[in-house]
Amino acid sequence: MSDPTVIVTGASRGLGAAVARLAGQLGANVVLMARTEGSLAAVAREIEDGGGQALAVAGDVSQPDDCQQVIDRTIERFGGIDGLVNNAGILEPIGPVAEAEPEAWHRSWAVNVLGPVMMCRSALPHLRASKGRVINVSSGAAVNAVEGWGAYCLSKAALNHLTRMLAAEEPELTAISCRPGVVDTRMQETIRQRGPKGMPQDEYERFVSYHEEGELLPPEVPGLALAVLALYARHEWTGQFMSWDHEGIQSLVRRYASSTAA
Ligand SMILES: NC(=O)c1ccc[n+]([C@@H]2O[C@H](COP(=O)([O-])OP(=O)(O)OC[C@H]3O[C@@H](n4cnc5c(N)ncnc54)[C@H](OP(=O)(O)O)[C@@H]3O)[C@@H](O)[C@H]2O)c1
Repeated sequence: MSDPTVIVTGASRGLGAAVARLAGQLGANVVLMARTEGSLAAVAREIEDGGGQALAVAGDVSQPDDCQQVIDRTIERFGGIDGLVNNAGILEPIGPVAEAEPEAWHRSWAVNVLGPVMMCRSALPHLRASKGRVINVSSGAAVNAVEGWGAYCLSKAALNHLTRMLAAEEPELTAISCRPGVVDTRMQETIRQRGPKGMPQDEYERFVSYHEEGELLPPEVPGLALAVLALYARHEWTGQFMSWDHEGIQSLVRRYASSTAA
């Protein structure tokens, strides 16, 4: 059987780069998408230097043509798609609903919701053929109203519902929303830099303290859970919103990923 192929959006840094590296270590052909071409190519090179197969396709998930291009290039190079990890996401704008700027909220929606929808639309014919998996990278913000994060909270709630829609409409696929915990990436830097202006002081201090107390997760820890889900998620979980440290997911990690560098 040929190696499975996994697409990871937002793979130029942070959590997505970790998922891409780990999927490569687990034996997948990896397709990486993000806007920053140089960083994307560097992550792809690391995967290839480790003996894996990687394809970097620069693009913006908010652009339907870019989404289609990633899928077309994937099929051209690897012939199929087994897993799609919709990881690209933005936190901003930070600020209360009372001060919502339409353009900034549109941008959040375009990247965090329409991006995954368009990636799915283009990938679905191939995912049906492989009975593949869609892993939507969600957040606790999907179910908790974090003051000042309205655009982000709404977008992640919608992403969870996209997962349920896929479970309803595409019964052969496995679609899961997964929350990765609080992870040491640039998104957390953004919270620490921009938070004081748009969030309540106690919320802001909570995130600063995660950083100061060394409580942020390294991207490789939830990244491994996401990579394993992209390859081995159980069909009975389709439609669910799960945490990266769910016992069932960690049991798959122990079963399939004991040899990775995470
Ligand atoms: N960090 C956390 O604590 C945390 C917690 C819960 C959920 N999450 C979720 O985890 C995911 C990854 O976030 P992260 O923490 O790794 O953040 P990050 O370091 O800011 O990385 C975000 C990634 O998304 C890409 N991206 C942003 N806009 C894009 C666009 N329009 N098109 C394509 N790619 C785009 C970025 O690459 P380019 O800039 O090169 O395009 C980058 O690779 C997000 O969905 C986030 O909501 C993170």
